[in-house]
Amino acid sequence: MMNAEILRDPQTMEQLLLEPAGAVNAVSRKIYPKDGGYYSFLEEAAAEGSNKKYMELYNRIARFYRLSNKAYFALKFGGERSYRQQFLSELELLDGQHVLETSVGSGDNFLYLNAKVQLYGLDISSGMLKQAMRNLRRWGMTAELFQGEAEALPFRDNSFDCVYHVGGINYFSDPLRAVLEMIRVAKPGTKLMIADETEKLVTGTYQKVPVVKEYFGQQKDLPQIMNCIPDAMMELTYKEVCKGLMYCITFRKP
Ligand SMILES: C[S@@+](CC[C@H](N)C(=O)[O-])C[C@H]1O[C@@H](n2cnc3c(N)ncnc32)[C@H](O)[C@@H]1O
Repeated sequence: MMNAEILRDPQTMEQLLLEPAGAVNAVSRKIYPKDGGYYSFLEEAAAEGSNKKYMELYNRIARFYRLSNKAYFALKFGGERSYRQQFLSELELLDGQHVLETSVGSGDNFLYLNAKVQLYGLDISSGMLKQAMRNLRRWGMTAELFQGEAEALPFRDNSFDCVYHVGGINYFSDPLRAVLEMIRVAKPGTKLMIADETEKLVTGTYQKVPVVKEYFGQQKDLPQIMNCIPDAMMELTYKEVCKGLMYCITFRKP
């Protein structure tokens, strides 16, 4: 069961109440509907810039995302588990803890976490969230899912025992804001993790495949996510994993 206490209106930070219609702003009575199993904090028509571009892309490819990824991971890394464990092993997860993945996609990381944590996932793409709902049913797992932008999380400060992100932040409209939001919703003492592709993956693979190049191959300088981590964070580390194709940043909120 979700703890409704942690929900906040991402625009105003006012408390939300869970009602049959969805999550309702306790002050303005604005309704964020729950359709198809997840709460929606985004009207897709209102998305802009890079976020709109990638939301539309992921809506189109959602049905093929997991299978094509699995095939790629099998060929390149000997399987999905050995790919994902290279960054997921950085997480500190204890039974019963509340864990948030921003840009959860089709939920694929959830399969490789401690089975006794309480899972929360947010993504901008309704197509990906529908796949996540389907996968969770197939895997016999439960998670609370939300549609929204990682730059404006619908949660109270200091809510989660673990917050992590894999695979989207390089192309967000505002990566700095997304990092600050992850920190805001993490409890003090939480270890956070951010993983995404390195320049090596962009130049070595993405730029060689025409359709992929259109979306992921043109940015010469990936945003410097390390520069987005505030000085106050502790135990900051950067390493390259997955044959140098992914970076993995970890740090602890004081
Ligand atoms: C490569 S997929 C990664 C999915 C998942 N984390 C994984 O490891 O398989 C990138 C995801 O980022 C999501 N995304 C892109 N921009 C976003 C934003 N601004 N806020 C939240 N999610 C976003 C996309 O919809 C997509 O599901």
